[in-house]
Amino acid sequence: METLVHDVIRTMQSCLVSAGVRIREGSSSPDQLADLMRAARADGVRRVAEVGFHAGLSSYAFLEADPQVSVTSFDLGFHECVGPAKELIDKKFPGRHELVLGDSKTTLAEYRITGPDAGFDLAFIDGGHRLEEARSDIGNLARMCKPGATVIVDDILPDQFWGKGPSQAWEEKVEAGVVLEHARHSSEPSGDVFSDMWPRLGSYPLARCWVIGTFV
Ligand SMILES: C[S@@+](CC[C@H](N)C(=O)[O-])C[C@H]1O[C@@H](n2cnc3c(N)ncnc32)[C@H](O)[C@@H]1O
Repeated sequence: METLVHDVIRTMQSCLVSAGVRIREGSSSPDQLADLMRAARADGVRRVAEVGFHAGLSSYAFLEADPQVSVTSFDLGFHECVGPAKELIDKKFPGRHELVLGDSKTTLAEYRITGPDAGFDLAFIDGGHRLEEARSDIGNLARMCKPGATVIVDDILPDQFWGKGPSQAWEEKVEAGVVLEHARHSSEPSGDVFSDMWPRLGSYPLARCWVIGTFV
């Protein structure tokens, strides 16, 4: 798995460097990518939904993990890395990736109504970090995934400003019986794979923590 994760990181980095894009937001750590790839390889996982495409790292990891998997990503789409990352993914995994642009508060609900029959097997939530955004993403994806589908939410860090929203939204959904929590995993320091491209990221000696659960 380690080699596969490093291949994913190397390929995405070289694509973004050759496209000359600047990275201005966090992505994932190698440990987190390994968890995403393991989740995509689990029995019966065919359709993955994620909020937060950014530079496509998590999408690439899901698609590389298993050739039977397809991914639908929801993202605002304003980062300059979105275009080159989408091009690379379409070239490498033709017909297996869909990118829905816009605010996930609206696009997830619209997709549920007008898109293909949802029935996702796995969801990764790493989009807007405000409480109402995380709450809305978990709530919408709960309705778009099969019962028992795995859900992974990034940035469960209640003491950090960017982790308060996802942490509280997750606790609320656990209490409401929408999700069951199975594990919390972390990497410390965050080890963001794009830290070389945005050195400010790499100098943060912070933990990264994500939760793994299932939709009830
Ligand atoms: C942390 S990045 C995602 C990183 C990606 N999952 C990875 O592993 O590399 C968060 C992304 O969510 C997007 N985002 C933030 N708020 C959003 C919203 N309300 N709707 C859709 N996307 C949003 C941002 O534009 C950004 O591209």
